[in-house]
Amino acid sequence: MARLVIVSNRVPVPRPRERPQAGGLAVALKEALATREALWFGWSGQTGPRTGGEPTIVTIGQTTFATIDLSAEDYRLYYTGFSNGMLWPLLHYRMGLAEFRREEWEGYRRVNAAFAQALVPLLREDDTIWVHDFHLFPLAAALRAAGARQRIGFFLHVPFPPLPLFRALPQCNILLRELAACDLVGTQTETDAANLREGLRSAGFDVPVRAFPIGIDAEEFAREAERAVRGPEARRLAGSLGGRALILGVDRLDYSKGLPQRLRGFAALLRRFPEHRGRVTLLQVAPVSRGDVGQYRALRRELDELAGRINGEHGDIDWVPVRWMTRAVPRATLAGFHRLARVGLVTPMRDGMNLVAKEFVAAQDEADPGVLVLSCFAGAADELKGAILVNPHDPDEIAEGLNAALVMPASERRARWTADIAVLRRNSAAAWAEGFLAALAEHAAEPARAGGW
Ligand code: ADP
Ligand code: F6P
Repeated sequence: MARLVIVSNRVPVPRPRERPQAGGLAVALKEALATREALWFGWSGQTGPRTGGEPTIVTIGQTTFATIDLSAEDYRLYYTGFSNGMLWPLLHYRMGLAEFRREEWEGYRRVNAAFAQALVPLLREDDTIWVHDFHLFPLAAALRAAGARQRIGFFLHVPFPPLPLFRALPQCNILLRELAACDLVGTQTETDAANLREGLRSAGFDVPVRAFPIGIDAEEFAREAERAVRGPEARRLAGSLGGRALILGVDRLDYSKGLPQRLRGFAALLRRFPEHRGRVTLLQVAPVSRGDVGQYRALRRELDELAGRINGEHGDIDWVPVRWMTRAVPRATLAGFHRLARVGLVTPMRDGMNLVAKEFVAAQDEADPGVLVLSCFAGAADELKGAILVNPHDPDEIAEGLNAALVMPASERRARWTADIAVLRRNSAAAWAEGFLAALAEHAAEPARAGGW
């Protein structure tokens, strides 16, 4: 079997004496990596005197991790600036939050070229290269320019907006042209695929674009949840609830996740359905993410204030309605919290997939499952038909969804959960990775495409 080369901005290099990291990508690729030789290349997560240079190599089993540093300036331009300050809001349909600066665009392309320069000497002729996410749109073209002839696939983990919106990016056609150096492009949903296909066609490229909704290892997560729910943290949480129903939110602290809207929806529940007052607790875990970006700092201040205001207005001497945590909680511990929760509240304004929604479903006790209240703008809404779908722009709709979930009889909860878990078991993480790689093998018309770009 040909070696698989994964390229992503972040690389989950296992650290000595730490449990393996469990980011969405690492989890999704676990089985693909377990069954073949692989090289995983990307940023070390560190800044150094310059971008690139000799990669740091760590080999564990069949997987080799190769990482390079970024200079402090490139970190600012490529990661904080263009990737997170411009592309992230644009791809999440939030043009009003996007800030474009020419020097950041140039830094972004420079870092992609540096990735290609550092990666090409590590490649073998028959490697299959799989590039991940929006940080690396230009990488395939940079690899081709540096001489790579291997088949290259690209998977976009986040949404892709309709073309008129994407055209707000001054260099949109250059970005699309560089992406077109791939043999296959994958997206999370059919909507994203249609938008990206239209973008590529409008720029004169006909690369295959197909939806491959990312999955999770539902069985593994369920086992983790069963274990963790008996662990000390879940027991502490259960004990502290005093019999109240737990509504759980788990997200990075990111404006795409709809956190202020979620808190307003919860406040609307307490106002409009007073029978739940004193009987429910919302635990929102939202560790700080991308704290160097201005919009993220402003969001944190807004949420600190909002959580405080809701507790001030609705709380009682023996009841704090919102428990607000910006500290990171290990994923295994969270699995136990999901299993304890009566409601999983996942309300992004726009999300590529949202793995948390899938993890909530996987963690439930089949005899007495909780209910997922899910934004209709999460990619996961295409698959999880057993969830209560809400429009996160409307706090009243969130409140109504929460109320419906809280009063739902066990038989209906079981029926909805059974439908969703079947979808998750069918579209596992392993099936997602193998499906993409099989399609890439089919689509890559080597060597014609490689030479012809
Ligand atoms: P995103 O990729 O935008 O962060 P996802 O919902 O797809 O959104 O989450 C990716 C992964 O990160 C999931 O596996 C989830 O368990 C993990 N994760 C998300 N939020 C937290 C959190 N607050 N603490 C620990 N892990 C988290
Ligand atoms: O899922 C989208 C994504 O941008 C991933 O590519 C990334 O690893 C994750 O969110 C967390 O963001 P960051 O790497 O910027 O901390």
